[in-house]
Amino acid sequence: MSRGNILVTGGAGYIGSHACKALRAAGYTPVTFDNISTGWEQAVRFGPLARGDLLDRARLDAVFAEVRPQAVMHFAALSLVGEAMANPGLYWRNNVAGSLNLIEAAVDAGCLDFVFSSTCATYGDHDNVVLDEDTTQKPLNSYGKSKRAIEDMLEDFGASHGLRHVIFRYFNVAGADPEGEVGEFHRPETHLIPLMLDAIDGKRAALTVFGTDYDTPDGTCIRDYVHVCDLVDAHVLGLKWLEAGKGSRVFNLGTGTGFSVFEVIAQSHNVTNREVPHQIGERRAGDATKLVSGSSRAVQELGWRPSRSNMEAMIRDAWRWHQSGHYER
Ligand SMILES: NC(=O)c1ccc[n+]([C@@H]2O[C@H](COP(=O)([O-])OP(=O)(O)OC[C@H]3O[C@@H](n4cnc5c(N)ncnc54)[C@H](O)[C@@H]3O)[C@@H](O)[C@H]2O)c1
Repeated sequence: MSRGNILVTGGAGYIGSHACKALRAAGYTPVTFDNISTGWEQAVRFGPLARGDLLDRARLDAVFAEVRPQAVMHFAALSLVGEAMANPGLYWRNNVAGSLNLIEAAVDAGCLDFVFSSTCATYGDHDNVVLDEDTTQKPLNSYGKSKRAIEDMLEDFGASHGLRHVIFRYFNVAGADPEGEVGEFHRPETHLIPLMLDAIDGKRAALTVFGTDYDTPDGTCIRDYVHVCDLVDAHVLGLKWLEAGKGSRVFNLGTGTGFSVFEVIAQSHNVTNREVPHQIGERRAGDATKLVSGSSRAVQELGWRPSRSNMEAMIRDAWRWHQSGHYER
C-alpha cells in the first residue's frame, strides 16, 4: 500500500538517508529536501530529491505545494560543536532561522505533523547523571542551544497553529545500513567510531583519546550509542504516533548502556582483529563525563524495540560500510 509523501529535510545526510530507506520500507515516499552542503547526492536513493536550502522560503513554499507532504521529518542542520563555538551565527541562522522558515512553510501548507531531530546536547553537563526527558536542558554551546530553541519553537507553533510534533533527543548515533546501501560519511568526521576505523586502516594518523582522568572506571568519557537503523525505526513509529492523533511528545533515543572510549576501542579491536592506533590527548572543553539515557519512554510508549544497538553490531556494520568505499562528489 502506498502511504503519503514525507518531506525529509537532510535526507542526503547520514541519518536522513537511513530514514528514507526505513520510510520507503514502511510504504511512504520520502522526498528529500537538501542543499547537499554536508550530505551526498548519492545517498538519495529511496525517493526523489528536491534541492533547496532551508533559508530559501520561496523554494520551501514551492516544494510544499508540489509534494503536498503528509508530514515533515526534519534532520537538516549543522552539527559540529567546535564550529558552533567558533561561529555561533552560522548555527543560529542555518538551524534556527532555517527551521523557522520550514515550520512556517509547513503550517501555511496545512502540513501539521512534524518529527524533529534533537540531541542529548540540549541537556548540557550533568556529569554522572542518567538523563531523562524531564532533565533540565542547559546546553553548553550554540549547537545545543539552536536545537533547544527549535524545540521551543515547535511548542509555540503547537499552541498557536495546532502543529503536532515528536521530538527525538538522540544520544550517539553509530553503525550503518547492514545492506551497505548507505552509511556514515561526515566531512569533516568528528564521530568516534568512523575516526577509529580510519585510524585502523591508516586513512588518518592515530585516534586521539581526549582525556583519561575523568571520574569513570577507566578514566575516559562514557557515552550511550544507538544504531542508526534502530534510531530511524523510532522515527517511523513517531510518524505513526502522530498519524494516530496521539499528540506532541518528546522521546530520548538511547539504550541506557554507557561505553567508555577505551571500551569502544577494545570492541573495535575484537571486531576488526586489527590494532587501533591511538594516543592520549588533553580533555576537550565542553565534554561531559557521562551522557547516558535514563529513559525507557520510547520503548514503553512508542513500542520501540532496538535490535542492533549492541556495540559489536554497530562496529561491524560501520566497518563493512567503511571498507566498501564512500560517496564521491
Ligand atoms: N550523528 C549524530 O550522532 C547525531 C546526534 C544527535 C543529533 N543529531 C542530529 O541529527 C541530524 C542529522 O545528523 P547527521 O549526522 O545525519 O548529519 P549530516 O550532516 O550527515 O546531515 C545533515 C543534512 O542536512 C543538510 N543541510 C544542512 N543545512 C541545510 C540547509 N540549510 N538546507 C538544506 N539542507 C541542509 C546537509 O546537506 C546534510 O545532508 C542533525 O539535525 C543532527 O543535529 C545527530
